[in-house]
Amino acid sequence: MSQTKLPKVKDIMNLKGKRVVLRLDFNVPIKNGKIVETMRIDRAMPTVEYLIKKKARIIILSHIGKDASSSLKPIVRYLSKTINVGFVPDFRTEEAHAVVDGLAEGGVVVFENLRLDEREEENNPEFAKYLASFGDVYVNDAFAVSHRSHASVVGITKFLPSYIGFLIEDEIKHLSLALKPKHPFLFILGGAKFETKMPLMKKFLKIADHVFVGGILANDFFKDKGLETGKSVVDKHSINLTPLLKNGKIILPSDVVVRTGLDKKSVSKKVADVLPTDNIVDVGPDTIQNLVPLLKKMKLIVWNGPLGFYEEGFDKGTIALLKAIAGTRATSIIGGGNTAVIVDKIGLGEKLSFVSTGGGATLDYLADGKLPGIDAIIKCKKRRVSLE
Ligand code: 3PG
Repeated sequence: MSQTKLPKVKDIMNLKGKRVVLRLDFNVPIKNGKIVETMRIDRAMPTVEYLIKKKARIIILSHIGKDASSSLKPIVRYLSKTINVGFVPDFRTEEAHAVVDGLAEGGVVVFENLRLDEREEENNPEFAKYLASFGDVYVNDAFAVSHRSHASVVGITKFLPSYIGFLIEDEIKHLSLALKPKHPFLFILGGAKFETKMPLMKKFLKIADHVFVGGILANDFFKDKGLETGKSVVDKHSINLTPLLKNGKIILPSDVVVRTGLDKKSVSKKVADVLPTDNIVDVGPDTIQNLVPLLKKMKLIVWNGPLGFYEEGFDKGTIALLKAIAGTRATSIIGGGNTAVIVDKIGLGEKLSFVSTGGGATLDYLADGKLPGIDAIIKCKKRRVSLE
């Protein structure tokens, strides 16, 4: 997908007074009503600020959580620290239209969680048309949900001239480096979800020079090699992974951190020493040390998915590897929501070339080189009509 072909927010003429339906991804982790991590919101702000500066009237759409039960209210509170912003608790009412009609130039309103209405995820055309009725143009800057064919991501582009925002532009610019990589190129794959990671593994075994595997995926390899994995989480899969090791590109951890069955203490040990009572929860320190000389030789490093059970505090391997990568000259691209949370926690973002805001979207983009939400913008016929 070429950058130049993508219609961008800067291509929209005469924004003053125009109603812009802006799809963002504010799906951030919330605990006890507080936002845990704001990267996705912060990275969307350049487009919001640009539209405010151009005196557009901005209607922000987003989902949060998996269903209707989560609210965007905490995000609106966070936004209101830096911009003037209104909130519509139910976008299916007359009030929503009244609020939009009353928006001043440069005004911003956020509609409540789109998944309040199940037609959003069904990509229902009537619902897409309804959302479009609030705007004159549509801008998608929700990279992280652009792998979903939902009404506010794909359907809406049938009804409004459609463009991408600055965040999507930035994501494509950096992630596309992994599709035509500089060599030597190391791909790092962690996390769980065998089914979603396997296409990535296969793709990058063809184009990368080395593939380092951590997380639950590494347990799958250990198991297929006949090694003891004890009580560790192993995905149920039907294919045998050992033939993938033949071309010598795959690097597996040499040591791991295990929680022992009896006292739940964690210790690091060689992979060959794992006992039936052990539970593998992270990669070990030797594994990271052994990777350092290789990291130094790389021109490109792309990483998706944490190496350990970071949710339970086993993030030392991931942090050590992030720090080692930050000390190299390689172009480094870090993807996957969970890995990004760890980068943010240790404040390493500046030292890495790029941290993607996407989870599943980043995986799909890396695997296929395209996303439904971005394809829909390219194919939008309304824009051509409006330019004629
Ligand atoms: C994400 O967090 O990956 C996106 O916001 C998409 O969310 P979803 O997986 O619930 O569609």
